[in-house]
Amino acid sequence: MASAKPSQLAARGPPWVKDNIESGSKKNNEIKKNEIKSALPVQEEAESPEQKADEPLSDVQEGLAKIQRRKNVFFNPHMRFCRDLSSLWVGTLPPLPSVLDGFCASGARGLRYKLENSNVDHVTFLDAQPEAIQLAESNARLNNIPEKQFRTMRADLNRLLGTGERFDLIEIDPFGTPVPYLAALMRCGSGMDERYVSVTATDTAVLCGAHAAACYKVYAARPLHSEVCHEAGLRILLANMARAAASEDWALEPQLCISHRHYFKVLARLRKGADGAVETAKTAMSYLVQCKHCLYHEMHASAADLRTECPECGKRMEWGGPVWGGKWAEPKSIERMIRLLSQRPYIEVGETGTVLKTILDECEGPALYYDLHELSSRHKRVIPRAEDVVGKLREAGFFAARTHFSSVAIRTDAGLEDVLAEMGKR
Ligand SMILES: C[S@@+](CC[C@H](N)C(=O)[O-])C[C@H]1O[C@@H](n2cnc3c(N)ncnc32)[C@H](O)[C@@H]1O
Ligand SMILES: [Zn+2]
Repeated sequence: MASAKPSQLAARGPPWVKDNIESGSKKNNEIKKNEIKSALPVQEEAESPEQKADEPLSDVQEGLAKIQRRKNVFFNPHMRFCRDLSSLWVGTLPPLPSVLDGFCASGARGLRYKLENSNVDHVTFLDAQPEAIQLAESNARLNNIPEKQFRTMRADLNRLLGTGERFDLIEIDPFGTPVPYLAALMRCGSGMDERYVSVTATDTAVLCGAHAAACYKVYAARPLHSEVCHEAGLRILLANMARAAASEDWALEPQLCISHRHYFKVLARLRKGADGAVETAKTAMSYLVQCKHCLYHEMHASAADLRTECPECGKRMEWGGPVWGGKWAEPKSIERMIRLLSQRPYIEVGETGTVLKTILDECEGPALYYDLHELSSRHKRVIPRAEDVVGKLREAGFFAARTHFSSVAIRTDAGLEDVLAEMGKR
């Protein structure tokens, strides 16, 4: 299998299949342009002439929720895996008296969080689009959620977050980047010691360096446009979230992050406190370097340590950052999710279990990974099976694991020469 070119990388993502987006109608005239400033273009499904905008599509059963869809309200069935995972994570958290589904569309996430998790008490479904709010409300009734346990609101998310209302979990699932909502997300929660956030970014092309200028502008970071771009992009997103959190005295504690299809998902705890906030800000000041010639890579905890001459081949290395230099997944959280998974017959256990186990194995390893296809082409080696290289490196006493970021890559603390030694010469 040929290795993807960097220009294809943002879209390629990890081992799983390609995506299609089923989206709302272009004819959503009721939303003024300036009301949803953040909405980036999404692939829209052509509306058939005989299909009216408010005509229901067939219902979908997803997890424990029955979801009625409408042609003009966004629903992407391919995000099911992401919703499965988020709802599973929600089930491992302490009691959540008040949950906000901040970009609810049909209400799919809020419905699932409430129906699948006894620790969720009340859900607020919020969307800027009136049709979405009508649909979320009728979906809440369709699923027999008691009236006292939900409410719907048509509003701009930033406006609700600015009211000072407290939520124990806030779901942010926008079109494109979450950055326009991070300041308000971090400013709210006054008086709380801890709370949880679930944040999606679908602007992976920006974070992965296909549009470097946009990455500078939106994330104040230089992306790495190479085969390690998915981890680099996720770490850029986390650094941006961390700066927003720290400035409001929150420590950011990622519990599980994933790179899947066209999106990154961050599931994290926020903990109030100046000391933690300082650590969070410092952790967001790391840098990545990668040699495009021999593929050597490193992460540095600060700009002061940054070296750009490759220690292996002497060529100039590319740098990316600032990035989050800390953990992007917490083993205990993942173990809790794996345990809970066996109690959820409605989740496709195979894929979810495999992804969680892969992340559990890799998450305490060093930053970045080696793409075996790229190594093979640069160094004229035979492409080995990733699990064989992992096995041999472990036998030799190194940390080694597969990575959920790419099916053809491995994460290891072995040096480049040690990895190459496990790959036969062509
Ligand atoms: C990607 S969709 C959400 C999908 C949904 N969470 C799901 O899992 O099916 C984004 C939604 O955000 C809404 N939206 C866009 N900008 C908004 C804003 N500023 N405040 C509130 N909702 C907004 C859109 O109307 C759209 O329904
Ligand atoms: Zn080099």
